[in-house]
Amino acid sequence: MPKNTNERFHDRISGRYDAIYDDDPYHLLLRDLTLAHVKPHLPRDFAHPLLDAGCGTGWFGARLSKSGFAVDFLDMSQGMLDQARSRMESEKPRVAPEFFHGGLEQIATLTTKTYALVIAIGDILSFVDDPVRTLRSLAKRMTAGGIFLGTVDQKLAGLEHFLERGDLDALARFAKDGKTVWLGGTKDERFATRMYTAEEIRDVFDKAGFDVVDVVGKTVLPLRNFRDRLDDPKVRREVFDLERKLQAIPSALGRASHLEVLAKRRPTS
Ligand SMILES: C[S@@+](CC[C@H](N)C(=O)[O-])C[C@H]1O[C@@H](n2cnc3c(N)ncnc32)[C@H](O)[C@@H]1O
Repeated sequence: MPKNTNERFHDRISGRYDAIYDDDPYHLLLRDLTLAHVKPHLPRDFAHPLLDAGCGTGWFGARLSKSGFAVDFLDMSQGMLDQARSRMESEKPRVAPEFFHGGLEQIATLTTKTYALVIAIGDILSFVDDPVRTLRSLAKRMTAGGIFLGTVDQKLAGLEHFLERGDLDALARFAKDGKTVWLGGTKDERFATRMYTAEEIRDVFDKAGFDVVDVVGKTVLPLRNFRDRLDDPKVRREVFDLERKLQAIPSALGRASHLEVLAKRRPTS
């Protein structure tokens, strides 16, 4: 099957991804925030494996595997998956991971395992055409009460872009459906993405058979313009503490470019 533009783009950047993100203090902070969010919800035993979905180079999965969990990896980009595999070869995990090449949409055909936790960081659900359908089929590969943690782009943060372009029809369409095009790659690597309000993404999870535990802004503080200061570990620790306090205020998520959803699969799904 020919590669789609999303896959082609991620294949192209897979070799450079860790050099861009692994030592960048802003991304280190984002990762710490995500780990702090999920920590109280980690499984209490190692009975079931975890899945790093849209794993990229596998940083989150590797981190969870260091705590003793068996972790599998899934990504639509073979380049990313190869990087995750080579990361895990040097980690020597307790249980050998499986690597699934494909979209999260295809989870039902990729494995028959049952996961206690699925982590999908990097807006995987924004890239999926039919998130309710995808999450419903994911739910069938999760334990009753299994945890999903993932990010999506926030629609409220996208409004300004359309307003600045001065195209009110496009703005009205976007305000309604959140659909837009991801512009990060070269011209022929643009791909469809969808942004959500907190209410919309809650509704998606509800329809797919999950109870939303919480939705937080990531990040509430507009830290991109503060990046240089984050080199200092002391500053990073202070910003982390402040961000965690702000994340606890429900309305504060309106400021954030991304939303991080923590949801629990209903026993009946
Ligand atoms: C921004 S990266 C995030 C990687 C990793 N989760 C992290 O946080 O470092 C997004 C990843 O999702 C993958 N991806 C995009 N759409 C996907 C889909 N529908 N199913 C599975 N993987 C997808 C891309 O290939 C890419 O590796």
